[in-house]
Amino acid sequence: MTTPFRLLALLTITLFVVACSSGTDSKTTPTPEGTSPPIPAAADEALVELSANAIGAPTPNTGSTETLPEDPIEAGAEVSAQNACTACHTIDGTSLVGPTWKGLFGRNEEMTEGPSVKVDDAYLVESIRDPGARIVKGFTNVMPAFDYLSDEEIEALVAYIRSLQ
Ligand code: HEC
Repeated sequence: MTTPFRLLALLTITLFVVACSSGTDSKTTPTPEGTSPPIPAAADEALVELSANAIGAPTPNTGSTETLPEDPIEAGAEVSAQNACTACHTIDGTSLVGPTWKGLFGRNEEMTEGPSVKVDDAYLVESIRDPGARIVKGFTNVMPAFDYLSDEEIEALVAYIRSLQ
């Protein structure tokens, strides 16, 4: 994942430019040699957002569940759509990049290593938070870790996948 580094690099450059230009603005109160003028916190925040937009980085997921439907299954479908899970997973039994979610709950999944797993809640949570922990046989370890999702979002996803029998 290179995006956080690109973002950091861009941010550093932007802050540097701002530091330089605000230095010339405040000629009346010269800053001592070698110290950079303080950057107001608000400007700092605006810059982060600006840089993120500039490079098309996704805005950080705040984990807010305020707008999610109350029904956990509906909420799970929405979280799945928001996070583009369905780019790799279907709910109709066909495999894409990842295994289908249809009939996944309770299924015996063979792993590339170690014993097979009877899919339960705990396995689903692990598969979402830390997909590299156990790799499903016949698939590759390409799923990103969705470890930034809130507990509520993960629970909703689990309820949704469990419902897809
Ligand atoms: C880039 C493609 C990709 C995306 C996006 C993705 N996954 Fe996956 N997922 C995979 C692959 C490939 C596997 C199988 C390999 C492994 O076990 O990690 C997998 C495995 C899983 C499993 C275990 C499936 C099984 O048969 O045991 C679950 C559950 C899962 N993903 C949920 C999710 C959820 C929820 C999201 C969205 C928040 C998501 N995935 C997004 C590719 C993806």
